Amino acid sequence: MATEDIAKSLEDSNLESETKEDIVTPWDVAGADDTGIDYDKLIKRFGSSKVDNEVIAKLEKVAGKPVHHLIRRGIFFSHRDLFTLLNLWEQGKRFYLYTGRGPSSESMHLGHLIPFVVTKWLQEAFDIPLVIQMTDDEKALWKNIEIEEALRLTKENVKDIIAMGFDPSKTFIFSSLTYMGQCPEYYRNVIRIQKCVTFNQVKGIFGFGDSDVIGKIGFPAVQAAPALSSTFPHIFGKEKVPVLIPCAIDQDPYFRMTRDVAPRLGFPKPALLHSTFFPALQGAKTKMSASDLNSAIFLTDTPKQIKTKINKHAFSGGRVTVEEHREFGGNTDIDVPYQLLRFFLEDDPELEKIRIAYSSGEMLSGEIKKLAIECLQPIVAKHQESRKSITEDVLELFMTPRKLNFK
Ligand code: TYM
Ligand code: TRP
Repeated sequence: MATEDIAKSLEDSNLESETKEDIVTPWDVAGADDTGIDYDKLIKRFGSSKVDNEVIAKLEKVAGKPVHHLIRRGIFFSHRDLFTLLNLWEQGKRFYLYTGRGPSSESMHLGHLIPFVVTKWLQEAFDIPLVIQMTDDEKALWKNIEIEEALRLTKENVKDIIAMGFDPSKTFIFSSLTYMGQCPEYYRNVIRIQKCVTFNQVKGIFGFGDSDVIGKIGFPAVQAAPALSSTFPHIFGKEKVPVLIPCAIDQDPYFRMTRDVAPRLGFPKPALLHSTFFPALQGAKTKMSASDLNSAIFLTDTPKQIKTKINKHAFSGGRVTVEEHREFGGNTDIDVPYQLLRFFLEDDPELEKIRIAYSSGEMLSGEIKKLAIECLQPIVAKHQESRKSITEDVLELFMTPRKLNFK
């Protein structure tokens, strides 16, 4: 597709049309109705591909092990060029991983973990380098945050990311505000990309308007550049290495733009693996978001807070009365405690047992909430324990531009 067509189709996909479409942009996620986002429709609108059994089988063959449950359960539901990338791998062509986080809050929430969990699984399965971008520049531009504060939030969030257990010999984490000044190649790629994209195009893709500050208009190139391997000369030298970007589907606009530009600069199009959204506690109509404190379970929450939040705010797919619930059963598609379990309970047979018990009415809403609470409390507590051991030195180690260790 020509850039204009891409911009046009994105424009169509971003605007709310007469038929009340789901809204999915980097800044706004809202389902048209209570059933949440229609992800199959999204695949059609965005022009990506479904992660079907064939893709999963290929991934398992190449990785030599069963896929992560987030992939197996269809939570990573969409991709671009993943099949191509795996075919290339079989011919001996290696790739790297790129993902990121916009540090807008002191603490990350459970939803933010999703892309990082699968990124970690991919890194371990393929034994490849990983770069993680902290877009503190983006947050300074979009939110009411000073540069200094954005840099501080970067550090706090990086501790959360490191606590997930990434290997420092294979992982480079960088702040855009800092790395831009450490590596001339980064800024040069940003300008190369900015030269390829007009204001009209970013307006179409991101909906920028006349009163948006100019920093926002240029920013998409900052998120695009890490998809070109020459942005990391200390890791890849001059080699043009393909990349796979795991992210939730809200980040796709950036990478549709990147996929249009990369070939014009002599680089392969980045491949993508998209996840669905971890729902807000209030229900699947919106995503779990750091800007709505009651919508999210944060990595800093105490066991008591987790319990209270789930009991008080988690949207229930149960029936109004116990009698009705026993007769008709609960709806697991919209039940947030069930969804929490679908994302975080690893045990497949156990999850299936819960699904059957809840949807047949044998298990009540209070009981499934209790299971969700008991599943999440130790995960969050373990994370907090592991975060405690992340010192300034460890932070420094991950964030120093350096050679990484891979074959
Ligand atoms: P940010 O900080 O908004 O989100 C970080 C990552 O988490 C995903 N995400 C979610 N996934 C599942 N359920 C949710 N409720 C949920 N909320 C957020 C996001 O899609 C993202 O993958 N501009 C980016 C930072 C960035 C980036 C990247 C992300 C820079 N380069 C490359 C992915 C890939 C941002 O503000 O993400
Ligand atoms: N050392 C890798 C091998 O022989 C080759 C390689 C080159 C690579 N560039 C890469 C691997 C980038 C991963 C990412 O298999």
